Amino acid sequence: MAKKLWGARFKKDTDKDFEEFSKSIQYDYKLAQYDIYHSIIHVNALVDSSILTKDEGSRLISVLRQILREIEEGEFKPDLECEDIHSDIQNRVEKKAPKLAAKLHTLRSRNDQIVFDEKVYCLNEVEELGKLLTHTFDAIIGKASQYEKNFFLGYTHTRRAQVIFFNDYILAYAHMFKRDYRRLQCFIENLGVSIGSGALAGSSLNAKHYQKVVFSALVKKHLAELENAVDNVSSRDFIIELLNTLAILQMHLSRLAEDMIMYSGKEFEFLELPEEFCTGSSLMPHKKNPDFLELVRGYSGIIYGNLMAILTTMKGLPLTYNRDMQLDKTPLFSSVEIVKKELKIMAEFIKGITLKEKNIAKALEDECLYATEIAEFLVTEKNIPFSQAHDAVGRLIRYAQEKELKIQNMQDSVLKTFHPDLDSGALRLIMNPEHATSSKRSILRKVPKIKNNKLR
Ligand code: ARG
Repeated sequence: MAKKLWGARFKKDTDKDFEEFSKSIQYDYKLAQYDIYHSIIHVNALVDSSILTKDEGSRLISVLRQILREIEEGEFKPDLECEDIHSDIQNRVEKKAPKLAAKLHTLRSRNDQIVFDEKVYCLNEVEELGKLLTHTFDAIIGKASQYEKNFFLGYTHTRRAQVIFFNDYILAYAHMFKRDYRRLQCFIENLGVSIGSGALAGSSLNAKHYQKVVFSALVKKHLAELENAVDNVSSRDFIIELLNTLAILQMHLSRLAEDMIMYSGKEFEFLELPEEFCTGSSLMPHKKNPDFLELVRGYSGIIYGNLMAILTTMKGLPLTYNRDMQLDKTPLFSSVEIVKKELKIMAEFIKGITLKEKNIAKALEDECLYATEIAEFLVTEKNIPFSQAHDAVGRLIRYAQEKELKIQNMQDSVLKTFHPDLDSGALRLIMNPEHATSSKRSILRKVPKIKNNKLR
């Protein structure tokens, strides 16, 4: 085990199994870069308050920058002997500048570092998530404009309901993703990044010292004066908020995936999926399986689970910091990484889908799709109370199904047994996709836009 940040108080060595059990270096190394940011800001504050000389400060910062460069160039390999990323970086500084390193941790605590690191990680990742989400959103808008004039079948209870435009359907997802994007924006607005909590009680450094020379433009933009140190080291609601936003986004991705699985199958055959994202069967030569979509649908379990994990970990935790909170990282990293991968592929996947227009046109001949239009005609044109109209059309549909007849082939004399105001000429005008869609005037059918695609 590498040198600990807290060894002196203990007479006995730490139990080896416990030591392994308690480590977080195997995952928190992902925060290395942000931990260096914290250190550089902290060193500046120490110089500003004359605890370090200017010279000591710049030497420490140059060592920290060396390590930062290794991280940025992908050469940083975490030392898995260390307890966590904070100890790892401290040890590295010690190797490069043994005497000075002893002053780096002055008046600070890992409790303050970890929450800072995680918040800056979130700032960075949310920017990336926002970009990827915009690509998926744009792909949907592109598909909508490609099939702008096409009709589609609308379902409720997975049963044929009414005719809609394909755009009515596909743009529904654009609206959902737009709200997901807004939730990411709100997340950033709520975040609040601060330094100076100490372990929980603050430190004797003046708050202004932390604001003077802030490292990284991103942090500079978001660094706020610390309002309450107890809250800062105790709270992880920002992680819950992000995982919640990602869980909702995941739910939308999963529904889109399920729709495409269903509509592309033989039972519907309305969509053709892009081959480069499908797989075959080792036994059945004909298969073209929608594995990407199934995995997206399946990942919902993990993404929801991650949210539940952190909610449950935080429930009932006494203030302030508790080691339980170390376990927030795996769910956070897991959800962020999964959703990023899904979005990246989903944008390309959507670009590759095509509508099987002939099959859709055939399905649109189903007269049940126009039953509601007939009832509406009786109400709006003939002033019949809706429940009477509903009843008449219901009987008409049942009759047509039992006798296996087309309503549009029925004589007026037959139609009028269901309602005297029904006639074949009027029905012909009503029972088609053009009428069914053009008669719906309550919808604005606005193409959504995502404004300002800078998130952080
Ligand atoms: N590995 C810890 C975490 O992720 C860092 C903070 C440790 N603080 C402490 N007092 N042990 O939460």
